[in-house]
Amino acid sequence: MISFIWAEANHGVMGNHGTLPWKLPDDMKYFKDTTMGNPIVSGSRTFRSYNRPLPGRDNYVISTHNDFPEGVIVLSSIDSFLELAKNNGDKEFFVTGGANIFKQLLGSVDRLYRTKIDHDFSGDTYIPEIDYTQFDLLSETQGIMDEKNQYPHKFQIFVRNN
Ligand SMILES: NC(=O)c1ccc[n+]([C@@H]2O[C@H](COP(=O)([O-])OP(=O)(O)OC[C@H]3O[C@@H](n4cnc5c(N)ncnc54)[C@H](OP(=O)(O)O)[C@@H]3O)[C@@H](O)[C@H]2O)c1
Repeated sequence: MISFIWAEANHGVMGNHGTLPWKLPDDMKYFKDTTMGNPIVSGSRTFRSYNRPLPGRDNYVISTHNDFPEGVIVLSSIDSFLELAKNNGDKEFFVTGGANIFKQLLGSVDRLYRTKIDHDFSGDTYIPEIDYTQFDLLSETQGIMDEKNQYPHKFQIFVRNN
């Protein structure tokens, strides 16, 4: 199974200057709890934004380069990822972005884990257009707001309906 997991703010903003435009520890915790124990798959720009394998998960990076830290498995094409996912149908592969990789996998994704942040941020990277008529909303949970989590946000899970 192939899943996307990401956070987007108003107008679909998901990145700025190679990093996240916001600090939202509640979403970091959600990401960690949701992906832990599962393989994660990132575009090389997204991987470079933290540049280390995340513990407790197989870390795949899609790239035409091979200069990544130990513990990272490089996939040299989208097709090699699709082949991997097909040959491991019992596993849920969490694609963590960015926009470039999501765009190429829109036709193959089974589940969407979207954190929706209700705030305006400047950005240079936007979530590609997703046809939500092809997905059903499975669950929606409000995130915590406190002194460390200042933006209203909710966690949504969608499943493909066709
Ligand atoms: N809000 C969120 O949840 C979230 C999630 C993820 C990322 N982001 C943000 O999004 C931005 C990064 O996203 P992005 O769209 O610019 O980049 P990206 O998707 O992370 O990475 C793009 C790179 O992946 C490699 N690649 C792409 N397609 C490939 C293919 N078919 N075969 C082999 N390699 C391929 C290429 O790198 P090589 O040059 O190495 O080949 C390409 O430059 C950052 O600002 C990041 O912080 C936000």
